[in-house]
Amino acid sequence: MNITVIGSGYVGLVTGTCLAEVGNHVLCLDVDPAKIAMLQAGGIPIYEPGLEEMVKRNVAAGRLSFTTDVAASVAFGDIQFIAVGTPPDEDGSADLQYVLAAARNIGQHMNGYKVIVDKSTVPVGTADKVNAAIAATLAARDTSIDYSVVSNPEFLKEGAAIEDFMKPDRIVVGAGDERAIDMMRRLYAPFQRNHERILFMDVRSAELTKYAANAMLATRISFMNELANLAETLGVDIELVRKGIGSDPRIGYHFLYPGTGYGGSCFPKDVKALVATGRDNGHAMRVLTAVEAANDAQKLRLVEKVVARFGADLSGRRFALWGLAFKPNTDDMREAPSRVIVDELTRRGAQVLAFDPVAMHEASRTMADIAGFSFADDMMSPLHGADALLIATEWKAFRSPDFAELKRLLQQPLIFDGRNMYDPAWLRAQGFEYHAIGR
Ligand code: UDX
Repeated sequence: MNITVIGSGYVGLVTGTCLAEVGNHVLCLDVDPAKIAMLQAGGIPIYEPGLEEMVKRNVAAGRLSFTTDVAASVAFGDIQFIAVGTPPDEDGSADLQYVLAAARNIGQHMNGYKVIVDKSTVPVGTADKVNAAIAATLAARDTSIDYSVVSNPEFLKEGAAIEDFMKPDRIVVGAGDERAIDMMRRLYAPFQRNHERILFMDVRSAELTKYAANAMLATRISFMNELANLAETLGVDIELVRKGIGSDPRIGYHFLYPGTGYGGSCFPKDVKALVATGRDNGHAMRVLTAVEAANDAQKLRLVEKVVARFGADLSGRRFALWGLAFKPNTDDMREAPSRVIVDELTRRGAQVLAFDPVAMHEASRTMADIAGFSFADDMMSPLHGADALLIATEWKAFRSPDFAELKRLLQQPLIFDGRNMYDPAWLRAQGFEYHAIGR
């Protein structure tokens, strides 16, 4: 099939590349000429394991190409994916201006039947708006051409996006007519493996499914963070409780890890947007409002522990920080708890020296000018004479450090671990003072 992907960001690029990988011809569009030039030259603008090689392989095979030419991109694909950004408005609702601009471009340049697929995470009712925008543009052209608008939300995890796309748990497709359903079934046939993974449903249900999944996961995290905070005052180890409840198959082990709060490009934005959808439709989303408030508070949890230990005034203190990315295996800094931690420590007068295996370049774009904050060249150097080590991201490289060396370098053997990476009893036996989350 010929496929166009509008928006060559994280979701668009992964989607386009994986669809090319199974033999389709894919043209990816973006308004940013620098990004397109970079992609044409074989570079990729984001960090995602395995993606760069896959892009190169498919470009070389002639199945994947990139353009800024809107008319050419609309003419190309029988299926047109809309994968542009939907940033939150001031009131938390998703801003649809880029989605609707893409829809109008399709209406402006389409020449025959197209399936238009909403891949961006968009609120319930967006497919109707995309439909209306295309219809209005066609009417202005005085033309009538058949098309279908389909909702096909993505469930890609950063750091595992290729695997998630190539071996999906499920593929949710909201579609209203047989022609579109048939094309989507053929498109995803190569990803079915041993049993049917596509769930067909109506468009609005598909739109809500995406938000429901992310909101449910965010809820689990805030719930566990709240329990962890309680566990500390009760003298309970949350890690034992986590295992104790995870073994119930109705609960399951995933997404029960307490920490410094959820971040990233999806959970914070999607929880906000679903709260806004509720508000706009006269439903107070009480649970999700609390999920969000608990998460905002959790991002400060590690600093609260530092303050409890050193006092509110941290001037003259120096801290080493391991981890900046919102989670491991990505350079994504969006809504990262580390940002809140650094802001609060430096606001209280402390110096922070940070190391992250991948995200320092990305972090330097927004954090370079924070007074009192700087980046270290390697993992161990920020420890020299620091008052304590703080951990904000559970990178593999931090799992088993040389603790004897840590002890030698730090002013005192003191760790504030926002990701519960170590065994508290063992660390204490080694002479460390160890503060974790919920234990
Ligand atoms: C998420 C969804 O998982 C994915 O399906 C959707 O398409 C996009 O949003 P992503 O943002 O890449 O993916 O990150 P994810 O791995 O889900 O983690 C989100 C946040 O939750 C991270 O900040 C992570 O540290 C935090 N988290 C996760 C916890 O604090 N505890 C957990 O148990 C799991």
